[in-house]
Amino acid sequence: MRKVTVGFIGAGQISELHARGYEDNPTGRLVALADANPEVVRHRAQEYAIETTYTDYHDLLSDPGIDAVEILLPHHLHLPVTLDALAAGKHVSLQKPMALSLDEADRMIEAAASSGVLFRVFENFRTYEPYMRAKAMLDAGEIGEPLSIRVKTISGRGVGGWIQPVEAKAWRHAPTTGGGPPAIIDHGYHLTSIVLFFMGPVETVHAMADTRAAGTADYTGDPAMVIWKHKDSEKYGSWEITHAPDLMVRTDFYAGDEWLEVTGTRGILWVMRCSGNLLGEAPLIMHRDGATHRYHDMETNWSDSFVRGAREFTSAIQNGRQPDLDGPEARHALAFSLAAMKSALDHREVTLD
Ligand SMILES: NC(=O)c1ccc[n+]([C@@H]2O[C@H](COP(=O)([O-])OP(=O)(O)OC[C@H]3O[C@@H](n4cnc5c(N)ncnc54)[C@H](O)[C@@H]3O)[C@@H](O)[C@H]2O)c1
Repeated sequence: MRKVTVGFIGAGQISELHARGYEDNPTGRLVALADANPEVVRHRAQEYAIETTYTDYHDLLSDPGIDAVEILLPHHLHLPVTLDALAAGKHVSLQKPMALSLDEADRMIEAAASSGVLFRVFENFRTYEPYMRAKAMLDAGEIGEPLSIRVKTISGRGVGGWIQPVEAKAWRHAPTTGGGPPAIIDHGYHLTSIVLFFMGPVETVHAMADTRAAGTADYTGDPAMVIWKHKDSEKYGSWEITHAPDLMVRTDFYAGDEWLEVTGTRGILWVMRCSGNLLGEAPLIMHRDGATHRYHDMETNWSDSFVRGAREFTSAIQNGRQPDLDGPEARHALAFSLAAMKSALDHREVTLD
């Protein structure tokens, strides 16, 4: 079968990891780049050995040689570019978070439904092997019936990792382009996605956060405490978000890390790392029947989740399959993040529906 031809729209920092997903990809090939910044296009084209480049993404969408696009843009551009790409008949993989609002998410879902092409939101924690293994263990009943989940995200002083470009930081923090406090909306979307993945839909959310800078670019979303109840059940969860400025975080990427704990009727499961390697612990730990098991036999390099994600996208196009996250699931993760933001601002419980 012919390989799916893919173009990137947006060739900023995260495109580095997406590009790795097309090295030796058996079902897809990266063939073009579009970025509004000519200098970025030039150096990325060299780096990824791509000949076809554009500074206006509409030109990439008019290129009949391109089957699919990965949208890797600031959040306020997710809606217009997704709608244009679907209208141009290109399969779409859209970086998280899906959109700035639920109205925007609904417009994307509607457009995707009538487009006849594949639409997915890419949230790479779901293709990170320690999370995939944990999900498989939960589904197999290894710790019995899951009862509760506890999540911790922490940022600090990165050692060995990426430095975020000033421009990338600026659009993330500006409410009109980033969509809200990054720890809850941008990075937070990964965690709301993972909570849904492990525990199912969320019904109500209650959050407390330092909101003194709300509405300005200084509002980061940390510190915060978020608690919730899962839909139609007595299952609960909590999520603590902290920034510890002097904490050294070993990492190859961002200056942060996360870990989480699921308690079941028979045991407890921990995923101990993700984007960083703060604790240096085994990536997956299970306690059951009086014994604690540490699992090391898995890929822990965070970039591997992007490689899997790209391959999943192009093989799903070839096979007519819907990969994670479909529109409604991606919308639910967004609703969860937005509810946490709203609850913290309004000092009240927020129901997702
Ligand atoms: N863990 C993850 O999965 C992860 C990590 C980082 C970023 N992201 C997501 O990836 C997306 C991009 O983030 P980033 O860190 O690469 O940002 P970035 O700022 O490094 O790159 C964005 C790029 O978009 C380009 N751009 C802006 N407007 C454009 C337009 N109209 N047309 C074409 N190009 C345009 C900019 O020139 C820039 O090169 C965001 O959705 C972000 O949330 C995800």
